[in-house]
Amino acid sequence: EALEKEGYDHFMLKEIYEQPKTILDAMRGRISSKESRVILRGMEEYANRFVRANRIIIVACGTSYHSGLIGEYLIEDLARIPVEVEYASEFRYRNPIINEHDVVIAISQSGETADTLAALELAKSKGALIYGIVNSVGSSIARLTDAGSYIHCGPEIGVASTKAFTGQVTVLTLLALSLARKLSTISNTYFQTLLSELELIPQKVEETLKSSDHIKYIAKEIKGHHNALYLGRGYNFPVALEGALKLKEISYIHAEGYPAAEMKHGPIALIDENMPVIVTATNRSAYEKIVSNVQEVVARKGRVIAIVNKGEQAITRIADHVIEIPDTEEPFSPLLSVIPLQLLSYYIAVELGKNVDQPRNLAKSVTVE
Ligand code: G6P
Repeated sequence: EALEKEGYDHFMLKEIYEQPKTILDAMRGRISSKESRVILRGMEEYANRFVRANRIIIVACGTSYHSGLIGEYLIEDLARIPVEVEYASEFRYRNPIINEHDVVIAISQSGETADTLAALELAKSKGALIYGIVNSVGSSIARLTDAGSYIHCGPEIGVASTKAFTGQVTVLTLLALSLARKLSTISNTYFQTLLSELELIPQKVEETLKSSDHIKYIAKEIKGHHNALYLGRGYNFPVALEGALKLKEISYIHAEGYPAAEMKHGPIALIDENMPVIVTATNRSAYEKIVSNVQEVVARKGRVIAIVNKGEQAITRIADHVIEIPDTEEPFSPLLSVIPLQLLSYYIAVELGKNVDQPRNLAKSVTVE
């Protein structure tokens, strides 16, 4: 096992550090900015069903559900196809309206999650095109679907998903870009800008990982708290949900993810000096609004840990801690901003002496309802 960890203390840390490579692997052979091309072979065969779809429904569980939410932002923003994202377990039992004009995408690392599999079977029986975004080759979901795209991340051992999440988001990004191209919903110039930027993401992830020591230091300060609030807006709202889930899963600290603006409708009542608030503030749009959300937290003595772009000033001046990450095009910001949140939960769990790779009560693959 020590050999398999390749010198890292835990599989989770190894998998976090693998992400520059696994994101590249998820893109390999599928994108060429020189040729101005994005190709997802699995989708090409059914391209007509996708471009004519009334809507795309994404079903998933856990971390995969969060990548699905980012998929919703990506596909609606870039390709202008309506998207709904549902927990597979809710979808399958609520008598959903679904027909042959819908495309249902299942996202699953293991390809074996019972609820996701059952949701797909239901969608298939109603005539929808069913598509998989899966890591495990030859898994039940991969076999059931009409078509799909593997994320090619290699085996993920840590129960708390990290590299599979960024692999899923990468494939969803390629899907959105490919559909945007087919539907001409974005300009050629913007398409080209996005492609060139996407090719830079692996090295930007590498750069983001360099904050590791600083994050370890912040972890020591937060580890004694019993609650934490994660905030984000737009593309970074699902990242807040994922950050909170990571913390819960491995450190057993209660955490909630919230859209930053929604804070005033509830969580703000909880904020005092005992509430760390982790804010992802790398958005280009609505940036001013996020600054004012942070001011609201500071005014109530909440402890702010902010993820910002290099050179940011307004939040940096008032936050307790900032983690600087490289700037990118907004649709790609989750691929960078989730990295510090993965590391933060990892270091907090290590500080607390928890079993990082095999947290209590959780399973890597949930094959029962
Ligand atoms: C379990 C795992 C999570 C995972 C979820 C969905 O809860 O512990 O890490 O996100 O299942 O799994 P899947 O394999 O379908 O992505």
